Amino acid sequence: MRLLVRLLGGISLAVIVVTAGFAYLEVQEERTRLEQDLQRRAALATDAVREAAEPLVSRNARAGYERVLARFGRPDRGIAIYDEFGSVIAATPDVKPHLGPLSPLITEAIHGDVIVRRFARIGGRTVWAHIVPLERDDRPVGAAATFVDADYLNTREWDLWRRTAVRLGVLILFLTGITWLLVRWTVTRPVARIAEWTKRLKSGEPVAPPPDADASLFGPLAGEVTGLARTLARARMAAEQEARLRLLGEHIWTEERLKQFVHMRFGTRPMFVVSNREPVSHVFEGKRIAELHPASGLVSALEPIMSACGGVWIAHGSGDADRAAGERVGLPSDDPAYTLRRVWLNAEEEAGYYYGFANEGLWPLCHIVHERPQFRAGDWEHYRAVNQRFADTLLEEMEKAEAPIVLVQDYHFALLPRMIKQERPDARVALFWHIPWPNVEAFGICPWPEEILLGMLGADLVGFHTQFHCNNFLETVERMIEGRVEWDDFTAVRGQHTTHILPFPISIAADDEQMSDRIPGRKALLTDLGVEAEFLGVGVERLDYTKGLPERLRAIRRFFERWPEYRSRVVFVQIASPSRSRIERYQRLQREVREDIRRINDELGDRDWRPIVYRERHHDHREIAAYYRNADFCMVTALHDGMNLVAKEFIAARDQDTGVLILSRFTGAARELREALVVNPYDIEDTAAAIRRAVEMPKEEQRERMARMRAQVREHNVYRWAALLLAELGRMPQSASSIRD
Ligand code: F6P
Repeated sequence: MRLLVRLLGGISLAVIVVTAGFAYLEVQEERTRLEQDLQRRAALATDAVREAAEPLVSRNARAGYERVLARFGRPDRGIAIYDEFGSVIAATPDVKPHLGPLSPLITEAIHGDVIVRRFARIGGRTVWAHIVPLERDDRPVGAAATFVDADYLNTREWDLWRRTAVRLGVLILFLTGITWLLVRWTVTRPVARIAEWTKRLKSGEPVAPPPDADASLFGPLAGEVTGLARTLARARMAAEQEARLRLLGEHIWTEERLKQFVHMRFGTRPMFVVSNREPVSHVFEGKRIAELHPASGLVSALEPIMSACGGVWIAHGSGDADRAAGERVGLPSDDPAYTLRRVWLNAEEEAGYYYGFANEGLWPLCHIVHERPQFRAGDWEHYRAVNQRFADTLLEEMEKAEAPIVLVQDYHFALLPRMIKQERPDARVALFWHIPWPNVEAFGICPWPEEILLGMLGADLVGFHTQFHCNNFLETVERMIEGRVEWDDFTAVRGQHTTHILPFPISIAADDEQMSDRIPGRKALLTDLGVEAEFLGVGVERLDYTKGLPERLRAIRRFFERWPEYRSRVVFVQIASPSRSRIERYQRLQREVREDIRRINDELGDRDWRPIVYRERHHDHREIAAYYRNADFCMVTALHDGMNLVAKEFIAARDQDTGVLILSRFTGAARELREALVVNPYDIEDTAAAIRRAVEMPKEEQRERMARMRAQVREHNVYRWAALLLAELGRMPQSASSIRD
């Protein structure tokens, strides 16, 4: 309140001073203008009187004076004519009785033979007196005077001041109102909300993070306080989780445990992650820069680890506002724990390295989906050059770091481990391959197998999701390059350098409790979708041909054909995030999916029911969580997938132990989530039957299955994944590491 009074006091004072100053100038101007007008009118009238009176004074013609007075006198203008001694010869009646005090002016005009002009008082009124001598033969013989009423000048001046005062009053009233509202909206209420939030936090209540304070208003302080509050909330949550787990005697990996573990095992040795996809892209929304969290399993998995352990994450800056946001960015932006270092690529490099070699070559090569890989020498050159660019950036970043830990991610950087090890043998390098590894015959399609394998074997540790992919890789190495494969301990030895090949099934953080109370319920979600449904199914993927979308749509159609009683009762929501859309095959898939859905809805749906709701755009975590949370079943029907984290995210998002997961047997996740309804996505009848089983499954059975899968995901979370991988990396003897050329 005191702030408001002070603010309003200051504003009012400023408004009064400024308005009064301007009003003063305006009044002065107006007065000058009116005076000039008055003087001009008086001068004209007096000249006219002089012209008429001069001959009369010479002739001393009494009767003529009355005519002059009658002609030039007016209610607001008195006239007087004097003889050479300054005595009144004739005057209009309104001034005649009051002319005595003006004699000195008349004398001055006649004796000095000059025009006399000034304000004077006549009969209690202010007048402008204009007196001119009357002459004969260049000698003054009398005077003519006009007295123009000037009282109205004061009246006008007061009018102006009065109007200014009213304007000022209205302005102050208006400003007070607006300021009061603004202060309430932008200061008092947000501050009160933060205060309330802090109070609840202090009392130990579990509370969601505070709303963002207006940084444009409070400056960097707002961000700092909000960040601090969030850190506090996170720390409290972590401590409570720790205490809970300790009490339950559970050994679940948490963010805090991972942090402690990394500290114990590696001390202050810094950690570096390299991936193509950046954890956060900056994009323009109009003129505003917004953060976009990409649809990427890799990012979902690595982000919590970097938030826990800190370090530098090197990635391709691909957002259209990335350059504006900066080459180095602290993340998460509300409470930075690690640094994102961006690498810039031009369109040609991106086309060759990312779209070309990585996604039209290696991607179909590693996934058994019967899509022909495209290998072009130009793309390969770009792939090599971009790997080198990332390696150079990494070497620059870790220039001052002793024995750094480097976690290289995925098939975009097969060559990078070797490039790093050659320059920095002291670095511990792990390469995690997030997609499947094909058998040796399939891999043989690639025109540059040796260089790729040697690049990968530069790492101390190469990780895959499953033992099966490790075996494929070891076999490929054994058959394709010179060196020794030790099957007993799953290593590949070349010269002095040993690479361990081990499985680490990746996972998710599975502790996203903070979001819970902000996720809309089922009713709100259905209303938002504009549908009514007894059963809700959901699918969430990037628009990628490995995800088996057309097959899934066929299975959904088959389900409604075989069990028509479920028409109008089941609605399936497909969330599809556009991906790699510059590649023709992805564009074709997009067209195919849209067309399939349109046809199914046209042929099976009716006025009140659409079997499939299709949402093709990027969705953020909270939006997706709402679908996971409210669906009765989730379909993951990938034709081939290293792991598939959507399956795990669906399970982690369930807050009651119900819901059914339909899961392709060709995903890495199917090896862990045994309580899912495992299907062969190519078998349309089988998948359709699984949908029926899902909607008909008794709640009790759902609970049993879901509880087991939830326990599995909770225990085998991404912190455990990182801890196992890092433990393995830390355990390896520092090999002499002379990587041969
Ligand atoms: O599955 C491989 C992978 O690189 C994932 O790690 C990630 O989720 C996905 O592909 C994203 O692809 P992109 O980065 O090309 O959009």
